[in-house]
Amino acid sequence: DAFFAPISDAAPPSSTTRHIKISVVGTGNVGMAIAQTILTQDLADELALLDAKADKLRGEMLDLQHAAAFLPRTKILASTDYKVTAGSDLCIVTAGARQINGESRLNLLQRNVALFRQIIPPLVEHSPDTLLLIVSNPVDVLTYVAWKLSGFPSSRVIGSGTNLDSSRFRFLIADHLDVNAQDVQAYIVGEHGDSSVALWSSISVGGVPILSFLEKNAIAYEKETLENIHKAVVDCAYEVISLKGYTSWAIGYSAANLARSLLRDQRRIHPVSVLAKGLHGIDGEDVFLSLPALLGRGGVLGVTNVHLTEEETERLKESARTIMEVQNQLGL
Ligand code: NAI
Ligand code: LAC
Repeated sequence: DAFFAPISDAAPPSSTTRHIKISVVGTGNVGMAIAQTILTQDLADELALLDAKADKLRGEMLDLQHAAAFLPRTKILASTDYKVTAGSDLCIVTAGARQINGESRLNLLQRNVALFRQIIPPLVEHSPDTLLLIVSNPVDVLTYVAWKLSGFPSSRVIGSGTNLDSSRFRFLIADHLDVNAQDVQAYIVGEHGDSSVALWSSISVGGVPILSFLEKNAIAYEKETLENIHKAVVDCAYEVISLKGYTSWAIGYSAANLARSLLRDQRRIHPVSVLAKGLHGIDGEDVFLSLPALLGRGGVLGVTNVHLTEEETERLKESARTIMEVQNQLGL
């Protein structure tokens, strides 16, 4: 006897049945944190893992498969062959060199651009309709590189950008005020890096603009205090890298947060690395940097016209120049 009695009028799933496939390229610290969060949050029906190290890759796949009894059912595949990524709805790229203690993200550029020339074309060949979420650093320049190499519209090439920095910023503010970070609306924009920009003028806590809150409550705040909080955000990664050698958990949750908004068509606004040319006075070359963007199943659905003070606009332009200086070395 068959294990299951057949249903007499069963029909095969229609070709339009929604089946979400996510591929993660690079199964190191970051790739595996992202993979684990995708499984825990039930974001995909199929998860494909790809890396250059075959044994590590198979080990990670088996180790995740062995958790099947504790997780929503997700088909987990792994291969060093890009065929495994075919038909992906979202490809998350974390492959590449990471900073050593004290090294800046921009310093990783040449090594990781060389990798992207090997990685992006086969991803695109096997999943011509996929969304690309770039995580490898320097993420803003590598998102530009992925956009150029893929030939995709910029709406389908997104960098994780300052979605992570903004979470760190929200944590620091929430911790200071002893409130939930999810009730702190705060954006860091620009480079995911040393030249990022804190949008103090648009921060609100429970709907109360923070600067007017401080003024109303006669809470003296030195500009220096705000600068120090932003500097603490910029230092976060360097501190964690100096202590544990890399960062992984926060970016794992950040990337899953973005994957959910994209694949579940949530139309949520995230500070992510988008093609910013022509926005907020950023002229000149094509440059990707983080601005609050509306994300849904089609990728970037729009970029918000967030109000920037003159100083914030100048800092954003400076951040764009920093990225372009590095990017122009590529001759891409
Ligand atoms: P890792 O060294 O643990 O993992 C990198 C993985 O890439 C390794 O497993 C390696 O085998 C793989 N790889 C290298 N060349 C490859 C190729 N040609 N094809 C496929 N796989 C390849 O590094 P970790 O800690 O996972 O960091 C990865 C990247 O993510 C780094 O560039 C790091 O700076 C970046 N990152 C970005 C963050 C962000 O907020 N955007 C946050 C944290 C890390
Ligand atoms: C971060 C670095 C590694 O964690 O990009 O922000």
